[in-house]
Amino acid sequence: MSSTAGPADQATRRTFLARAVTAIQGLMGAIVAAVVGGATLAPSFAGARRSWQRAAAVSDVDADVPTPITLRLIRQDGYRQVVDRRVVYVQKEGANGVRVLDSTCTHLGCRTRYDEALKRFLCPCHGGVYDLDGSVLDGPPPAPLRRLDARIDGGDVVVRV
Ligand code: FES
Repeated sequence: MSSTAGPADQATRRTFLARAVTAIQGLMGAIVAAVVGGATLAPSFAGARRSWQRAAAVSDVDADVPTPITLRLIRQDGYRQVVDRRVVYVQKEGANGVRVLDSTCTHLGCRTRYDEALKRFLCPCHGGVYDLDGSVLDGPPPAPLRRLDARIDGGDVVVRV
């Protein structure tokens, strides 16, 4: 058996080495992408998780008038914790139910206000008008006020945010 490799053996060895280097580079690229991508995206996904949050005591909520409540929502924005404030209208509904509407107008996002005399939610920006259920009665809003999942838990109204 000869110790020197022929041209065919050298080509095979060269091909093998080239493929091995390419495979190692690919593996290293995948590892870097997983580490950097995971570190970048994980906080965003963590911040997107939804949870139940106490909104108000049931005793503070009226059956006839929507009560504006400011929710404090803590979320992750990259590595920072950001506190958002969102106003919702809470109102008792039926015997043991509760209705929670986001106060944000569905047209361009202005905050609506409740008009007790008209029994309507009014948007000051472009004249959007919603009824007590949040349905659009007038103006440009394309959709009803967003209704949040809510329930009564003991003596509290909790909402899913
Ligand atoms: S933002 Fe409310 S009607 Fe335009």
